[in-house]
Amino acid sequence: MPNSTIDAIFARRSVRAYTAQKVDDETVDLLARTALAAPSGANSQPVDVIVVRNSALIQEAEKAIIAYFEKKGETAILDRVRSRNNKIFYDAPVSFFLAVKNKSAADVGIAAENIAIAATSLGLGNIILGLPNVIFNDPETAAYWKGKLGFPEGYEFGLAVAAGYAADTGKPHDIDLKKIRYIN
Ligand SMILES: Cc1cc2nc3c(=O)[nH]c(=O)nc-3n(C[C@H](O)[C@H](O)[C@H](O)COP(=O)(O)O)c2cc1C
Repeated sequence: MPNSTIDAIFARRSVRAYTAQKVDDETVDLLARTALAAPSGANSQPVDVIVVRNSALIQEAEKAIIAYFEKKGETAILDRVRSRNNKIFYDAPVSFFLAVKNKSAADVGIAAENIAIAATSLGLGNIILGLPNVIFNDPETAAYWKGKLGFPEGYEFGLAVAAGYAADTGKPHDIDLKKIRYIN
């Protein structure tokens, strides 16, 4: 049964390398809107989308994130980040930061997945990112970064989704069908 939505869901994978090709404005705007089209508890619509295409800002965030893990001595995370060339956003040309109120983690996740699936369906690589949360939560840096991204009062970092044209040849993760159980 051919279906482009189902195809996109199964084709999506986390892309950790991007070409330098920009994503056009119309596509970026469309992807941002898919986050707002997501359902939310009691239709609370707790997610704002901040679209960042400023590579200098992303590099500054990357340095701050790594500095946080160094400060905390998080060697396992640092080793993983170093094995990825000290990249957190993987040089993706656009990153969607999802700011959320009322700690609505489920709503953020659904909004992020909307962007991810939509990006995949448009032929764009993408990756959902949780690691940036540290600079928005560390009392030493939170106010700076929330201000830099223009978070409204009372909003917290939820997730980011980076997107662009994929430069790697990864594949979707294996699915363990034993995780599906039926009670009839
Ligand atoms: C909530 C969430 C946060 C994530 N944060 C990161 C991250 O900060 N950095 C990263 O490289 N991958 C991150 N990932 C990607 C996961 O590592 C990835 O989804 C998982 O390994 C499965 O691979 P797949 O997405 O290719 O299917 C995150 C995924 C989710 C859902």
